[in-house]
Amino acid sequence: MSEHIFVTRRIPEPGLELLRDSGARVTVSQSDEEQGVTRQDLLAGVADCNVLVPLLTEPIDRELMSVNDHLLGIAQMAVGYNNIDIPTATELGIPVSNTPGVLTDTTADFTWAMLMAVARRIPEAHNYMVAGRYKLWGPNLFLGADIGLGASGIPKVLGIVGYGRIGAAVARRAQGFDMEILAHDPFNRKGIDADDMVTWADFEELLERSDFVTLHPPLTPETHHLINAAALKRMKSTAYLINAARGPVVDEAALVTALREDWIAGAALDVFEDEPAMAPGLAELSNAVLIPHIASASTDTRSKMATMAATNAIAHLRREKAPNVVNPEVYDTEAYRRRVAR
Ligand code: GLV
Repeated sequence: MSEHIFVTRRIPEPGLELLRDSGARVTVSQSDEEQGVTRQDLLAGVADCNVLVPLLTEPIDRELMSVNDHLLGIAQMAVGYNNIDIPTATELGIPVSNTPGVLTDTTADFTWAMLMAVARRIPEAHNYMVAGRYKLWGPNLFLGADIGLGASGIPKVLGIVGYGRIGAAVARRAQGFDMEILAHDPFNRKGIDADDMVTWADFEELLERSDFVTLHPPLTPETHHLINAAALKRMKSTAYLINAARGPVVDEAALVTALREDWIAGAALDVFEDEPAMAPGLAELSNAVLIPHIASASTDTRSKMATMAATNAIAHLRREKAPNVVNPEVYDTEAYRRRVAR
């Protein structure tokens, strides 16, 4: 029987085509687009496959990875992989791959769209229009904050927390707005590129000085609730928070209090702590722009993410080193050698 690739949800067609061209049997879970794959179907799919292609919506834990000794790899279609228990995958000899790089520009563009939307109150103004409330132009209608120099002539300060590929791409775009750019990386990554444009700052200084704080670190135990009540209190009352990284980087309940009590001016969130749920009160706030995790969602980028995931999946299937493996040390383990020899 041919080898089997299990895809947890329908990924863009170019990725599926590539998987099918590999000669493997490809199954896409028949999950409901809104509910996602059930745990039961996920367990059954993994038990029967040689390579798993999951999305960030599925927790890939020890129980799941233990059901099949013939699982040769996991090829996630996303750059973030906090849903996968990597130490366990490595212990069990399972290579895991992601799709880095291809979504950098798309996500950085979207970060800017969010920043501008919240600072200039675009969703609020749109809702006002479609509700038929626009009766007369007024000099005080929807006053927002400048992003560029504006009438004050004073450069705004952009604070980038997490200076990997996406953080650097956000910095490059800030050049056009004559901003002062501060950067802080919780893992001391400095100089992926564009580092000559930024001033390195410690976390507290960045929070205190920035007009816009934008978050781009991976979610790890170190970055969980990095933005908590204390951090929000350090920010300027005129500042905005942008999060297109992962929801749990922000303590969402504390953010609701901060927005409600005007500790900060506003927030734009593409990700949520307990996605797809939102913290109580968040949806009622006019100074929050809320978006359903679509920062990398351009047609081209999602297609390329799918073909990258497929390329990695095929490498796993062929017992070759996957181009985007995140736990390369796995290839030197006895557990991996045993697994591929089966
Ligand atoms: C999206 O959030 C990704 O990690 O690719």
